Amino acid sequence: MENVIEIRGIIRNFQLGQETVYVLKGIDLDIKKGEYVAIMGPSGSGKSTLMNLLGCLDTPTAGTYILNGNDASTMTDNELAEIRNREIGFVFQTFNLLPRTTALDNVALPMIYAGASKKERTTRAEEVLTDVGLADRMDHKPNQLSGGQRQRVAVGRALVNKPSIILADEPTGNLDSKTSIEIMNLFDEIHAAGNTVIIVTHEEEVAEHAHRVIRLRDGIIESDVRNK
Ligand SMILES: Nc1ncnc2c1ncn2[C@@H]1O[C@H](COP(=O)(O)OP(=O)(O)OP(=O)(O)O)[C@@H](O)[C@H]1O
Ligand SMILES: [Mg+2]
Repeated sequence: MENVIEIRGIIRNFQLGQETVYVLKGIDLDIKKGEYVAIMGPSGSGKSTLMNLLGCLDTPTAGTYILNGNDASTMTDNELAEIRNREIGFVFQTFNLLPRTTALDNVALPMIYAGASKKERTTRAEEVLTDVGLADRMDHKPNQLSGGQRQRVAVGRALVNKPSIILADEPTGNLDSKTSIEIMNLFDEIHAAGNTVIIVTHEEEVAEHAHRVIRLRDGIIESDVRNK
C-alpha cells in the first residue's frame, strides 16, 4: 500500500528570545493509506507540534514531509493552505466552530475555499451531517448543540472535502466518557469507510480503537506498535 505520509528526519525548534526550544528531535515516520493510528505520550512530548506539521499548519525546522507525493516541508503559506484544504481534515479538542453559524454552514465552509457552488456545498454538507448523525440538527448553531454534537459537526467539517487524512488532536478531551465512546465509534466508521485516521490521545481506551500506537517521548518516537 502507498504511503500517505513520509517523514524523514523532522526537527522542530522554536526560538524564544535568546533561547532555542528543541521540541521534535528527529522523527521518521511512514503512514500508509487506510491506517488508523493513535499518537500518545506525556504532556509536552511534542504530539501537537507533530500534528500541526502533519496537518500543514506548520513547517519543520529541518527534515522532509511528503504528503500524498507532495513535498510539504518547503511550501509557502499559500501552498500550505491549498494542500491543507484539499488533503487534510483537522478535528480539535475545542471544536473550533464558528459560533454564530449553523451546523450546515460550518460544515460547508471548507468547500467555499475549494471553489464549490452554493448548491454543491449544501448538498454535500447535508450528506455529511446525515453521516455523522445530525440530520435533525443542521440549522442549529454551536450553542444550541451538546458537546458531542458540536464535535460531530467538527468531524463533518473535517470530512466535507474528502481529504486524504483525518487528523484529530485529543478529540474527546472535552467530552464525558459516554460521549467520547460515541465520537470514537464515529471515527471507527470513518476509518472503516477507507479513510486514514490519526488521533492524538492521553486515554488508553481511546487509543485501543486504533490499529497502531505511536508513543512520543521528549521529541522522539519511543515505540511504534501495530496491535491489529
Ligand atoms: N510556539 C512555540 N514556541 C515555543 N515552544 C513551543 C511552541 N509550541 C510548543 N512549544 C513547546 O514544545 C513542547 C511540546 O509541545 P506540544 O504542544 O507539542 O506538546 P503535547 O505533547 O501536545 O502536550 P499536551 O499533551 O500537553 O497537549 C512544549 O514544551 C511546548 O512548550
Ligand atoms: Mg497537545
